[in-house]
Amino acid sequence: MSKVDVLLGLQWGDEGKGKAVDFLAPKYDIVARFQGGPNAGHTLEFEGKKHILHQIPSGVFRQEIINIIGNGVVIDPIVFQKEILNLKSFDIDPVKTLILSNKAQLILPTHKLLDKALEKQKGESKIGSTLRGIGPTYQDKMGRYGLRIGDIIESDFEAKYNKLKSQHVAILERLGFVEDFTVQEADFFGSLEILRKFKIQSTEYLINEAILNGKDILAEGAQGTLLDIDFGSYPFVTSSNTTTAGACTGLGIAPNKIQDVFGIFKAYCTRVGSGPFPTELKNDEGEELRKLGNEFGATTGRPRRCGWLDLPALNYACMLNGVTQLFMMKADVLSGMREVKVCYEYKIDGHTTRQFPYEYNNYKYQTIYKSLKGWVVEGIPTFDNLPSNLLSFVHAIEKSTSVPITMVSLGPDRSETDFRK
Ligand code: IMP
Repeated sequence: MSKVDVLLGLQWGDEGKGKAVDFLAPKYDIVARFQGGPNAGHTLEFEGKKHILHQIPSGVFRQEIINIIGNGVVIDPIVFQKEILNLKSFDIDPVKTLILSNKAQLILPTHKLLDKALEKQKGESKIGSTLRGIGPTYQDKMGRYGLRIGDIIESDFEAKYNKLKSQHVAILERLGFVEDFTVQEADFFGSLEILRKFKIQSTEYLINEAILNGKDILAEGAQGTLLDIDFGSYPFVTSSNTTTAGACTGLGIAPNKIQDVFGIFKAYCTRVGSGPFPTELKNDEGEELRKLGNEFGATTGRPRRCGWLDLPALNYACMLNGVTQLFMMKADVLSGMREVKVCYEYKIDGHTTRQFPYEYNNYKYQTIYKSLKGWVVEGIPTFDNLPSNLLSFVHAIEKSTSVPITMVSLGPDRSETDFRK
């Protein structure tokens, strides 16, 4: 029997999805990205080398696997070209194993300029976007102006491009944001040549035929649940559905085909960009976590804000996604701390709640913590010999979420991962 599983982030992104997908990929025939775009940075480490992928699915290093960029993704051809060249330097040429949906949206150079202009206009209330053109591209998709990957092989592509570009230029002029982009435009058209070498097709048929033929599929999410356009800390979110539902619309998979949902979270929380972060540590402890966890953005290099694990938020994410298994990452970063805190409820207007509050943005609530004893991680532990305090931490999370933690990752390398038997 074929299976479709989903792997996604339960926090504000950067939970370690790249590593987990790379690790799980050998169990699947197809790995498919369903949303987001070059704002993502999925890091994989093996054989002493670090690889960062932005748009290409993390199964690409396993040559026997088909990788799909689904219709829910927004693709920047310039970034795509760089990723392909980088893979070639590692002797990987995915032209036969990577397939693109003809319905994925195309990021134009002017989308990136619009992203910059709109962020600048927001001033103090800026979102902290990665400025990769994500918001404006999804805006055009919903506005029904967007260009799709399938358009690049049509004879009238240039005319369509010019029409949309003129619309963008008019908006940019109104915003007083005029920048020369002839170089970027030349790069854009140059990089389309690389895109055209790949198979571009209705991947929803490919996926559904694969399901009928008993193939196993892993849908790979990007960003995290708390950045979801509907359920995240709006407006400080990304522009797509990062939740399990996004895997259905972003690949053309019916909900009843989905089996396991692997939810990834870090043993603490991080956030990059603006927006509320109730458990943020704005002190030396936060600085220490950033250093020990090497918490700097894989796409922008920005320092990530760090804080304690937020259980109401984790529970919310498990509920929205229908998580069946939890993967806990980076508990080794907390190693050596005397005590580790978790937020287990909020207090709003004198009442306590374990729900993710709508008032998230106005900070009119208190975070209530429990302290747990710290642990020391030595060597490469397995689930059977985890330090007892770390095991208590695992049990406390399982009790709160009612979802089993079936994988712990205690280091960046492929080898530093253990699954519960
Ligand atoms: P955008 O998706 O680039 O517009 O960014 C919107 C918000 O999501 C910003 O706060 C970004 O920092 C954040 N964001 C976008 N992609 C990622 C990601 O892959 N990891 C973590 N944060 C992200």
